[in-house]
Amino acid sequence: MENENQKYLVFALCKGRLAFKTLELLEQIGVTCEEMKDKDTRKLVFVNEELKLKFFLAKGPDVPTYVEYGAADIGVVGSDIILEENRRVYEVLDLGFGKCRMCVCGPESARDLLMHRERIRVATKYPTIAKDYFFNKKNQTVDIIKLNGSVELGPIVGLSDVIVDIVETGSTLRENGLDVLEEICPLSARVIVNQVSMKMQNDRIFDIIEKLKAKLNA
Ligand code: PRP
Repeated sequence: MENENQKYLVFALCKGRLAFKTLELLEQIGVTCEEMKDKDTRKLVFVNEELKLKFFLAKGPDVPTYVEYGAADIGVVGSDIILEENRRVYEVLDLGFGKCRMCVCGPESARDLLMHRERIRVATKYPTIAKDYFFNKKNQTVDIIKLNGSVELGPIVGLSDVIVDIVETGSTLRENGLDVLEEICPLSARVIVNQVSMKMQNDRIFDIIEKLKAKLNA
């Protein structure tokens, strides 16, 4: 019979750039998965039998969901998603990469609209963050329009006055004649942990967090 020590520790990672950087870092602390390096695989879940680890890749916004429900013990995800999804998970570590900023952006001509609490239209993939910023921090009533990507289109095609979106290098804005008008908050990759796993698998999880911290501080 399996005892607690033999239980798999399950990681949920965001598909894409963040997963690549995360796996690189995990590898440096001995949390490895050879199976995952095969670029052509269609597999969804990867296992390291020897270390009793499992990994899966999910869409960013779903990572906190898997962690909240305990389908994954540990997740790595951007703080934009943590703020937007608002799931019951412990956020335990800032990995310091995937750095970018959540901003209000638009054409220069829209700057004035932000100063005078006008009722404006805000397009965004992040309605919760946008609502919190405009309603609670700025006391400005706005209409939030949810989009699923290429949000910069909003002001360009006349759907919205401004957008709330992630700015990393700023090149998407520049190439489309838009500017950062206000900064909402800095963002980076974070480690999140399921609340029950934190108690039941505390030793293993604590060990990983401490090794990650040491590596990041080195
Ligand atoms: C993100 C974000 C911006 C862009 C910012 O989009 O929504 O559009 O990157 O990066 P930059 O400042 O370096 O140009 P993503 O590539 O994730 O695609 P999406 O717009 O379809 O969500």
